[in-house]
Amino acid sequence: MASATTLTMMMHILCLTLCSLSLFCSAFTSQDYSNALEKSILFFEGQRSGKLPSNQRLTWRGDSGQSDGSSYHVDLVGGYYDAGDNVKFGLPMAFTTTLLAWSVIEFGSSMHNQIENARAAIKWSTDYLLKAATAAPNTLYVQVGDPNMDHRCWERPEDMDTPRNVYKVSDQNPGSDVAAETAAALAAASIVFKDSDPSYSAKLLHTAMKVFDFADRHRGSYSDSLNSVVCPFYCSYSGYHDELLWGASWIHRASQNSSYLAYIQSNGHTLGADDDDYSFSWDDKRPGTKVLLSKGFLERTTQEFQIYKVHSDNYICSLIPGTSSFQAQYTPGGLLYKASESNLQYVTSTAFLLLTYAKYLSSNGGVATCSGSTVTAENLISHAKKQVDYILGDNPAKMSYMVGFGEKYPQHVHHRGSSLPSIHAHPDHIACNNGFQYLYSSSPNPNVLAGAIVGGPDNKDSFSDDRNNYQQAEPATYINAPFVGAVAFFSANPTTK
Ligand SMILES: *[C@@H]1O[C@H](CO)[C@@H](O)[C@H](O)[C@H]1NC(C)=O
Repeated sequence: MASATTLTMMMHILCLTLCSLSLFCSAFTSQDYSNALEKSILFFEGQRSGKLPSNQRLTWRGDSGQSDGSSYHVDLVGGYYDAGDNVKFGLPMAFTTTLLAWSVIEFGSSMHNQIENARAAIKWSTDYLLKAATAAPNTLYVQVGDPNMDHRCWERPEDMDTPRNVYKVSDQNPGSDVAAETAAALAAASIVFKDSDPSYSAKLLHTAMKVFDFADRHRGSYSDSLNSVVCPFYCSYSGYHDELLWGASWIHRASQNSSYLAYIQSNGHTLGADDDDYSFSWDDKRPGTKVLLSKGFLERTTQEFQIYKVHSDNYICSLIPGTSSFQAQYTPGGLLYKASESNLQYVTSTAFLLLTYAKYLSSNGGVATCSGSTVTAENLISHAKKQVDYILGDNPAKMSYMVGFGEKYPQHVHHRGSSLPSIHAHPDHIACNNGFQYLYSSSPNPNVLAGAIVGGPDNKDSFSDDRNNYQQAEPATYINAPFVGAVAFFSANPTTK
């Protein structure tokens, strides 16, 4: 024991020395990234809806939403609340699931003892998505909870008494965006469970194909059919073409079924294959699809996908300062900056795509080409590392934007369950309006939503740790999901410069 401790100390001193000489500097060790990985997954337990299992680790939470769907004679218990409220929104939940699954697919081999927790986080969602997808033919349930009513209360999920309305898309009221994203999530998850639970995996893939077929045959955006309850919350601003191509690409990856290859080839051009687009989020899947499909070209299995490598390069070049097509915005402290609200969702999804593309490039000694100049896989990894390290505390404010990680992190997270007293500490009901005293209180949140990454700082690196500032202080499942893969990578490759 003593010698191991001494060795660790010596390593630490060595690192600090080298760091101060600027020869080689890494703000975080492999253990730090492993710790961040564990927490990034733990966060999902705080977002759970339904009956909690006995191995629930975030013990301040209790059961909630246990009759979701019952008044509509459908079982919609389970799934995740998207962010700091108590609505189950289908589009971001499915996207979160796709990205969690993608994280495991690419970087699961670096997750070690966290792989079971990562699978459990995915299954919590896919169990729900299966119910939502198989409850009725030509129907997909896409939301539980009236968001306008929910947002008028500051209530724990365990106390919820706002209408748990159920919303669906159907052949009459289509939603190809939410349906194709659900298909993507189920297909990606089928890859995750292929070895550990083959029958579950087969069920996921079979359902993905059915839901995709529904999405493709009955085309339309759920923002039209369900406008008043999905907009402006998760309005599909980018339309549904991006999700159709993304969904087909995931089913192709999961099944290797040539029907989906044919679909991608014949529909790609009308579904956005030729566009350059630089934002990857719960709304817009285009850059992610380009990177996903570039794999086939880079590994020389699908020569037809060269176009996706070209557009992936364009996306990458837009992010790397110094290249001719550079066009991203960074804060003075070096953080990618896209939007004043929930900016870190773009940072985590971008870091993930950089690392994934670096992995695909490395498989074949490839490089990204930015009008003549080349960008290597190592360049992409170091760029991703700056973003990940910034989130974990290597930034001008010297604070971590992951709750419970490091010495200094957000204390006033915009999250109902975390900011109200735990149901176990305060079993009496706290009604809708009575909760607002906790929203406006200056006290730190009583329940630590461990691992949650919040919206993050503004374009000048300043962050106000204010619970009412939802733009900066609210966590969301889709901020964390791609981060799970990124920190897994760095836990195995901590010293990449
Ligand atoms: C491939 O996918 C198509 C479309 O979903 C389906 O009809 C066909 O049965 C699949 N083929 C195999 C071998 O699974």
